[in-house]
Amino acid sequence: MCGIVGCIGKVNAKDYLLYGLETLDYRGYDSAGIAYLDSSKLELEIVKTIGPVKALIEKLNKPVESHLGIGHTRWATHGVPSIPNAHPVQSMNKKVTLVHNGVIENFQELKDSLIAKGYSFNGQTDSEVIASLIEDKLKANLDVLYVLSEIMKMLHGSFACSIIINGDNDHIYVIKRSSPLLVAKGKGFHLLASDALPLIKYANEVFDLPDDTISLVEKDSFRLFDVNLQPLQIKFTQRDPSLISRDLNGYPHYMIKEIEEIESVVRRLMVSYHPEDKFLFDEKLLKTINDSDNIIFIACGTSYHASLIGARYFRHIGKNASVFIASEWAFYPQIMGKKPFVIMLSQSGETADLIHCLKVAREHDLRMLLVTNVQGSSLERAADFSIILNAGSEISVASTKAYAAQVTALALLTNALDNRHNIIRDLNECCAVISEVRTSSKPKIEAMAEKLKNSRDIYFLGRGYDYDLSLEASLKLKEISYIHSEAIPGGELKHGPIALIDTGTPVIVFVTDDVTASSMRNNIQEIKARGAEVFVVSTEKLSLPGDTIVVRDYRRYLSSVAISSIAFYFAYYVSLKKGLNVDKPRNLAKAVTVE
Ligand code: F6R
Repeated sequence: MCGIVGCIGKVNAKDYLLYGLETLDYRGYDSAGIAYLDSSKLELEIVKTIGPVKALIEKLNKPVESHLGIGHTRWATHGVPSIPNAHPVQSMNKKVTLVHNGVIENFQELKDSLIAKGYSFNGQTDSEVIASLIEDKLKANLDVLYVLSEIMKMLHGSFACSIIINGDNDHIYVIKRSSPLLVAKGKGFHLLASDALPLIKYANEVFDLPDDTISLVEKDSFRLFDVNLQPLQIKFTQRDPSLISRDLNGYPHYMIKEIEEIESVVRRLMVSYHPEDKFLFDEKLLKTINDSDNIIFIACGTSYHASLIGARYFRHIGKNASVFIASEWAFYPQIMGKKPFVIMLSQSGETADLIHCLKVAREHDLRMLLVTNVQGSSLERAADFSIILNAGSEISVASTKAYAAQVTALALLTNALDNRHNIIRDLNECCAVISEVRTSSKPKIEAMAEKLKNSRDIYFLGRGYDYDLSLEASLKLKEISYIHSEAIPGGELKHGPIALIDTGTPVIVFVTDDVTASSMRNNIQEIKARGAEVFVVSTEKLSLPGDTIVVRDYRRYLSSVAISSIAFYFAYYVSLKKGLNVDKPRNLAKAVTVE
């Protein structure tokens, strides 16, 4: 989950590296560092700081003349956040300097073998082991590319490493497996980055490095090899800068900006996948789904919650469908039916747990669809089919618009298979609700946040589609407010959780699903009788006097599209009022590229 940058050629290295790290610090923000070749002294300088990239920028507050460098922002896996563990790391004799994203599974074994040869280490990272392994092999005066190909055969796990060899001022070397890394080409320079965000300001011709490759990056040339050093084809493509923007557009935080983009994201999906009165999905995908007898959804976190709704959609059109948490399925794969088909949801397309599942699915010859926001991501390139959400960059660690987009895309897909709803009319209704919440409901949501910001626990209650939404509302709240929260299906209350309800216990209840609304109203009476402080979110036709937020009616199956923004605004305001870092909550990072 770390962020990597690198550059060589006609570009100011310090400026690009710091800009790049600042752009990528949603991927990890416990320490940061850069290594650059000082053009006047021709020496490699390394500067590192603990904490977010801002500290590094402050420390490097001086002009620097440099045209070669690498940088890193870290999310700790091996070893606490500290200067020795921060990247760039060096080999024992400083011959090799590198930045690494990923996890080396056999690092202890490799480290022990180096210790036996007399090597010592400054920190606890697996990355330092890679640096000293390279140094050790280089001692035999072997070619660097050959050494890297040998090293790749020794490493188990995931890695994207940008490497500088002391004394070789004309190259950056890259080795890559399962962790993302992109290269961009400009006039007289090449840039590296873990995603397209930092690249696009400098150059929009971008290439996603494939797995199991070695790259030789120079200012005017870029060469790619497989692990046996066979040359590979490279195809740079243009990226649409409008979908890769970091602009806050006047908003104080990315999270609120992204919540406010939900309506336009839904509208864009409608146009992309249902232009001019007909659906536009890959015919082969539709046929594969039609032919399959079992749909296996696999995802994590917020994407898992969107998958729960997707599975309901598939069951409604008569398909068997089940949903699994990726980190569970990876170890205990459940494959049902004669013709199973896997659907993975991942906004980033880089989630390590899903990459693990993908490998397991391949071992069982399963075909798969990826629903993602990131074209060209590792999972997207590996999947048989993909649906791209085109929701634009989601920078806030807490996912919002991507969730609404995932549910919208799945609603469109299932309607393309079985035209049972007037999906465009229904999504237009949702857009009207989203717009109403944005323009009229925020003061009420903010007041609710003010009232509840010091709560120890907050519960969410719902049934059916409202329960699916409750799960996501609860995750979002705990993620960015650090308040303990649980989502409870209304009917389960009396089977245990009602014991948690006491005088003043805050409970937010969704009553927007007309199939379950009257049962929910009974649950509300039950918890009120035990002293709960209840806040009801309902739709006009299901509302009762005293409900906290009432929105216009929409079709229940689109609840998570229509009113997820209420849950998101609520979490946002609670976090804001508690003075927390809304966009970068503690311990979390945007793309979870480690298992
Ligand atoms: C929560 C959140 C996470 C992600 C999860 C999976 O706001 O964003 O729960 O949903 O880490 O990530 P993706 O969707 O990128 O596979």
